[in-house]
Amino acid sequence: MMHMKKVKYLVVALALGVLASCDEGRYETKISSHGENESHNEGMDCMICHGSGGDGEGWFSVAGTVYDSLLIETYPNTTVKLFTGPAGTGELKYTIEGDSRGNFYTTKKVKFGNGLYPAIEGGTGTRYMSTPITVGNCASCHGNTTSRLWTK
Ligand code: HEC
Ligand code: HEC
Repeated sequence: MMHMKKVKYLVVALALGVLASCDEGRYETKISSHGENESHNEGMDCMICHGSGGDGEGWFSVAGTVYDSLLIETYPNTTVKLFTGPAGTGELKYTIEGDSRGNFYTTKKVKFGNGLYPAIEGGTGTRYMSTPITVGNCASCHGNTTSRLWTK
């Protein structure tokens, strides 16, 4: 009898192990903050790996990399904000602190609704996107079809 019980435990443990390893990343909570340096792959489209089907830890809703005005060096410890109106108007819906590598990311659920207007605060100023976004992978456009993100 003892033996059967052990076998059952083993089967359950194996099944849980397989479930966990396939979709593991999806359930990780990862949110960047000032001073942290856990991230990597600056400038890349994070969601290629940190999204459905990817193997990155955590599926991000919003992520990207901010550079300085020369677009070569990353800009540390920025603050990314998403507003309901352009140029910092309307309601401030979400605030994400960038880390020391210039990256910002969150696995928090973000509701874009009809679109949110991004702003990036640096040490000496804030830059605003004049049109709204409905997706959070900034690098799908910035560094690809339009300039890298930057602030000052
Ligand atoms: C080519 C695939 C790939 C890309 C692109 C990628 N990541 Fe990752 N990331 C991973 C994998 C795999 C892991 C888990 C293993 C590891 O820590 O390297 C991970 C782990 C992480 C972690 C957790 C590290 C820890 O110690 O907890 C953070 C934070 C992170 N990535 C942020 C980012 C950000 C931000 C971007 C975009 C600028 C990004 N990643 C782009 C594959 C990727
Ligand atoms: C669908 C493509 C697209 C996505 C996704 C996108 N942007 Fe933009 N962004 C643009 C374009 C095009 C411009 C230039 C025109 C404008 O300001 O609307 C721009 C401009 C900006 C600007 C101001 C000027 C500049 O060139 O730096 C900021 C700041 C900005 N975006 C931040 C962000 C942030 C932060 C994200 C992710 C949360 C993001 N954007 C996602 C396309 C995109």
